[in-house]
Amino acid sequence: MRIHDTIAGLRAARGSAGRVALVPTMGNLHEGHIALMTQARSHADQVIATIFVNRLQFRPGEDFETYPRTFQADCEKLAAAGVEHLFAPTEAEMYPQPQTYQIEPPPEQAGILDGEFRPGHFRGVATVVMKLFQIAQPDVALFGKKDYQQLMVIRNMAREFNLPLEIVGGETVRAADGLALSSRNGYLSAAERTQAPNLYRILCNVAEAVRGGSRDLAKLEKDAVLELQASGWIPDYVALRKKVDLQLPSAHDSGLVVLAAARLGSTRLIDNLEV
Ligand code: PAJ
Repeated sequence: MRIHDTIAGLRAARGSAGRVALVPTMGNLHEGHIALMTQARSHADQVIATIFVNRLQFRPGEDFETYPRTFQADCEKLAAAGVEHLFAPTEAEMYPQPQTYQIEPPPEQAGILDGEFRPGHFRGVATVVMKLFQIAQPDVALFGKKDYQQLMVIRNMAREFNLPLEIVGGETVRAADGLALSSRNGYLSAAERTQAPNLYRILCNVAEAVRGGSRDLAKLEKDAVLELQASGWIPDYVALRKKVDLQLPSAHDSGLVVLAAARLGSTRLIDNLEV
């Protein structure tokens, strides 16, 4: 695997032959990231992984400074997964001057759910992803369904800007007990780690109830919030939405997804499940 820390270096090394897949990450790689690399391989001749902890998508007081940085171990995992190129720029390379031009996703998509609790987050994500697309010029880019709203925002950005690439979603990879793998799981204490799979279990119950014909969605959401609170969580939201645009479903809509964000101690976890 070749490691590039400059845009010029990546562009010079990126072959022009065949299809190129891009998998953007912030590092601290786990099996969820590696599954995207493996999936990328099946879509392309060359895989470019990126590691960049993007300051723009963190709010003041969030975990930008403490976000786990494990570069050496990440390189070993990527090399073992057969990735050809790793692009790992410095902040000065990505943002040599303040990023005054940014991508502003519409509030109906980016101001709801996680965007309501992390204002500006999806602007930061869309902006860095647009830059990475311009830098690597991939034919296909892969993103996990773990970050369902992020995937939707990026899909819509690519479509509305006519970007000449395909966006592919990867299934969420979970620990044996159901907890969705996340770099932030490392923040959990032993006791919190035992409690953490309950988030997924509660989402499974909501999904099961909807599949079983329950249509009082507001009650299902509220009961899930109460159950999380009773187990010591501080929920931001549990929401049943339409898969396509994450808007509120009307009475007979099918194709739903249940999404949740909740804090355990100081760790904020998100998860979702397609119904
Ligand atoms: P990061 O959290 O590192 O995630 C990188 C990619 O891995 C994202 O597409 C995310 O959805 C996916 N991913 C994370 N956990 C996963 C899991 N358990 N199963 C499957 N896929 C999983 O998401 C970001 O970084 C950033 O916002 C980024 C897109 C890189 C822009 O900075």
